[in-house]
Amino acid sequence: MGRRDRVTMKITPFKYEDGKLTILDQRKLPGEEVYIEINTPEDIYNAIKTLAVRGAPAIGVAAAYGYFVALKKWYDEETSYAFTEISTNCTPEGFLHEAQKLRDYIGSARPTAVNLRWALDRIYNKIEKPARKMIEESEEGSLSPAGVDELVKIVEEETYAIHREDVEACKAMGEYGLELLKDGMGILTHCNAGTIATSEYGTCLAPIYLGKEAGYKFHVYAGETRPLLQGARLTSWELQEEGVDVTLICDNMAASLMKSDKVDAIVVGCDRMAANGDGANKIGTLALAVLAKHYDVPFYMFVPTSTIDLKASSGHDIIIEERHGDEIYKHWFEKPMAPEGTDTYNPSFDVTDAELITAVITEEGVIYPPFNEGLCEAVRKAHEKRDKSK
Ligand code: MRU
Repeated sequence: MGRRDRVTMKITPFKYEDGKLTILDQRKLPGEEVYIEINTPEDIYNAIKTLAVRGAPAIGVAAAYGYFVALKKWYDEETSYAFTEISTNCTPEGFLHEAQKLRDYIGSARPTAVNLRWALDRIYNKIEKPARKMIEESEEGSLSPAGVDELVKIVEEETYAIHREDVEACKAMGEYGLELLKDGMGILTHCNAGTIATSEYGTCLAPIYLGKEAGYKFHVYAGETRPLLQGARLTSWELQEEGVDVTLICDNMAASLMKSDKVDAIVVGCDRMAANGDGANKIGTLALAVLAKHYDVPFYMFVPTSTIDLKASSGHDIIIEERHGDEIYKHWFEKPMAPEGTDTYNPSFDVTDAELITAVITEEGVIYPPFNEGLCEAVRKAHEKRDKSK
């Protein structure tokens, strides 16, 4: 299939304009479309932790912008900033120390989506070497304004590169994914892996948008995704905004939907994929993969290379975030829906075993099992492209 022209999306998950970073507050959707301003490390940390911005790629890109904005502000205010212990002397060591502290702080907001640490490490690694060189070369241990400007500029450019690459990766996954789908199909998805979970297009919703542009008529079923209802609040909203035909179901209706032959394919995103192809995604994904095997429905996981963690050899190495039990029985309800103090278990993600996944779709192409080699190759190609574009 040839490359398509740009598909115009109505929704923008974050904006960086005139030096101001704002993100769409997804906690308020679908009722209100509000953008919140991000200025400090605490702003971005809380936005990620409380899911104002969520979805693995979007978390990574928003964290990169948040990091850049916070670091710049720290420097601009000449360290009078409450977050830092360093007071007035902007030394190269001080700058690097701040940059590292900021990376670790923002990077600790959520544990499962690897994109968060991936983006922050990528930026930090880019400035570490030149900063260390400046430290070695500085006679009095002081950093010239030009030196810091240079480091901040590197952070800014790497942030834009991460953003740009995410848009391109989503579009490429959309193209590869579309080759696996046929006009008229019934497609079940879980959680939200759409435009607001990424920079644009989404991962597993990208082929739906590209297909729509090409005149395909898909029928999407969105699983509501308890407890935080990303499927109901976000996917059904986003698809309707973009003019895609969508039907909302409760999570426990998926089996009956598949049994009645309404689902031709399942498409989901991913928060971290281990080297063997085990993929962590929103809680409930594993159940769909098991059902898909039983009912012989293809199960496709969309995984940009930024979500592949080759350091994790299998799903056992993936840390699963556990969230407060109130989300299960209080969060959306006027009154508690279980006796006060009920014991709860609220893992935010589960790991789908590689053997249940029909194919992994990356921006470098479609990978079929066994996944190890294909995943390594996709990551290698993505690195190579990045190096070439420098
Ligand atoms: O807790 P969330 O809403 O951040 O979880 C999001 C998901 O599980 C998505 O499916 C995943 O991040 C892929 S996003 C393209």
